[in-house]
Amino acid sequence: ARKYRIAVVPGDGIGKETVPEGLRVLDAAARKFGFELTLDHFDWSCETYKETGRMMPEDGLEQLRPADSIFLGAVGWPGVPDHISLWGLLIPMRRGFDQYVSLRPCRLMPGVRTPLAGRTPAEIDFYVVRENTEGEYSSVGGRMFEGTDREFVSQQSVLTRTGTDRILRYAFELAMTRPRKKVTSATKSNGITFTMPYWDERFAAMAAQYPEVKTDQFHIDILCAQFVQHPDWFDVVVGSNLFGDILSDLGPAVAGSIGIAPSANINPEKTYPSMFEPVHGSAPDIAGKGICNPIGQIWSGAMMLEHLGEKQAADAIVKAIETLLAEGGPRTRDLGGQASTVDLGKALAEAVAAG
Ligand code: NAD
Ligand code: IPM
Ligand code: MN
Repeated sequence: ARKYRIAVVPGDGIGKETVPEGLRVLDAAARKFGFELTLDHFDWSCETYKETGRMMPEDGLEQLRPADSIFLGAVGWPGVPDHISLWGLLIPMRRGFDQYVSLRPCRLMPGVRTPLAGRTPAEIDFYVVRENTEGEYSSVGGRMFEGTDREFVSQQSVLTRTGTDRILRYAFELAMTRPRKKVTSATKSNGITFTMPYWDERFAAMAAQYPEVKTDQFHIDILCAQFVQHPDWFDVVVGSNLFGDILSDLGPAVAGSIGIAPSANINPEKTYPSMFEPVHGSAPDIAGKGICNPIGQIWSGAMMLEHLGEKQAADAIVKAIETLLAEGGPRTRDLGGQASTVDLGKALAEAVAAG
């Protein structure tokens, strides 16, 4: 049978609840479609940090390296500063494994209520393509003269030509596979005068290589407004690391719930394992209660299977999610229901098994 080795990192908070449901559905898909998943579990989290002073062992990335893919829950917990926990576990994977594409679908599923009155599923169906290794998330900067009145902090945004071109190319290639063939660029070249004009230049140069693709661009401020007012304008939206981050919470919010939004952190060359995780975080406000929505995690599992080449199985999982939502199946509180995290995982696993 086809075999894949999956590194499983539940992480913190609701990650510990969503990941088991993700695995339940992946297991159902593996049985149904005749492949095998070998799971290696890594219980790295903020608890590890409190015990050892590190989010993961020094050779953590080397331990993950042999995996075909990484299946991650969420990282971050009160008591450990977020920049320590995230830069100790999540960000090192994205950067160390050169997962330079963050791919985040935003779809209004039939049966899910959008906060935007009158919008239909056909009108909210786009991808955010987020640059995932550089930009505003740089390690260049620092704090000086701490505690004095000369104290200052600075952080550089870094756009490399290679890094900019490869994410733009990915966005255009993705658009070429879609009926509308449109790419929107998120910029802010009116206020940020080195990096963003450069981004615009590289965008224009890439657009010239794809004459079939329609393009437009908006400054990030008005783009946020347009996501709310005209979500139907968008097909593929490409942005820098920070702009893509912001848009990929706003997109799922207009599509009904952050709890169902999936994401893929992709190294397209497959030199390194890619990583699959929901868009949401560890949700300390609802963690431990068994009420969080596992769909973002489960859908991320489908994206993982598609990346591994198991397209049929991936489609079956997405189909099961669509059917459950459209036909009034069990739903969690964020979608107005009373079902538990486990109820949803079981319902979706059964649906996949039943085909
Ligand atoms: P969050 O996504 O954890 O939560 C935001 C809100 O959405 C909360 O009210 C939460 O209850 C709700 N929510 C999130 N996921 C849900 C789900 N599956 N079902 C139902 N409701 C859900 O964002 P936050 O509060 O900004 O961050 C909490 C922690 O998670 C922080 O430490 C943050 O740094 C971290 N974080 C991690 C990741 C990641 O690991 N990729 C992503 C975002 C935030
Ligand atoms: C995300 C998260 C992370 C990010 C945080 C937790 C560092 O918000 O995956 O969107 O900003 O990339
Ligand atoms: Mn985010």
